[in-house]
Amino acid sequence: MFSDLEGKVIIITGAGSGIGKSFAENFGKAKAKVVLNYRSNRHLDEIEAVKQIIHDAGGQAIAVQADIAVEEEVQQLVQAAVNEFGTLDIMINNAGFEKPIPSHKMSVEEWQKVIDINLTGAFIGSREAVNQFLKEDKKGIIINTSSVHDTIPWPNYVNYAASKGGLKLMMETMSMEYAQHGIRINNISPGAIVTEHTKEKFSDPDTRAETLEMIPAKEIGEAQDVANVALFLASDLAKYIHGTTIYVDGGMTNYPAFMGGKG
Ligand code: BGC
Repeated sequence: MFSDLEGKVIIITGAGSGIGKSFAENFGKAKAKVVLNYRSNRHLDEIEAVKQIIHDAGGQAIAVQADIAVEEEVQQLVQAAVNEFGTLDIMINNAGFEKPIPSHKMSVEEWQKVIDINLTGAFIGSREAVNQFLKEDKKGIIINTSSVHDTIPWPNYVNYAASKGGLKLMMETMSMEYAQHGIRINNISPGAIVTEHTKEKFSDPDTRAETLEMIPAKEIGEAQDVANVALFLASDLAKYIHGTTIYVDGGMTNYPAFMGGKG
């Protein structure tokens, strides 16, 4: 279905776990050449497993360690893709971090850590990808993993909501700058998705019930639901889509508190 993705060179940040791992497997199955970025060695086994899945599916993969919040490391990541595969076609800024802390107790360090990873990291990744695309005169593609919290406020996660809200306008602004070069920049905003990061909270019956209250579709999503959209956005089927956010959230962004028809 996405045959145009075959042979495309794609960087996926945070590819060792969660939604990033699902992106990697899916692009591998589409026979892309995948650069799997990870930060911590604790993801090495998963990265090796993903690499194997990609090879078995007929794709190619290399793993590159880099902290996406560090400018030089992101530059080296893009360079590693170009050195290995000769070009860059698609950049997925996916790595992210969240941890609940009430706003009045949040230190500047805790605030900054999330902004650095979720927002500044995606900016550096986008900037480096755009530079590579311009250098090659290529109609490259950038996809950022955002969140429903780029629009829904999230108590106890002020740094996260601010980072994702910023990511939305960052994407829209950069898309406006580079659409004329054929560079397509878009966001995917997942809602409640089961991954190894969220498995525990969604298996708690109270949290699960509370979360389902906020989802018109009455189900928690799967990483594959998000990965399907990434394949679409990266393919030629989406060739006229610039500067858009696609919510993959079972309707969470549609004010589900109004479902009863009152108010
Ligand atoms: C977060 C999840 C959360 C979901 C809905 C996502 O951005 O990563 O932990 O369940 O938003 O609130």
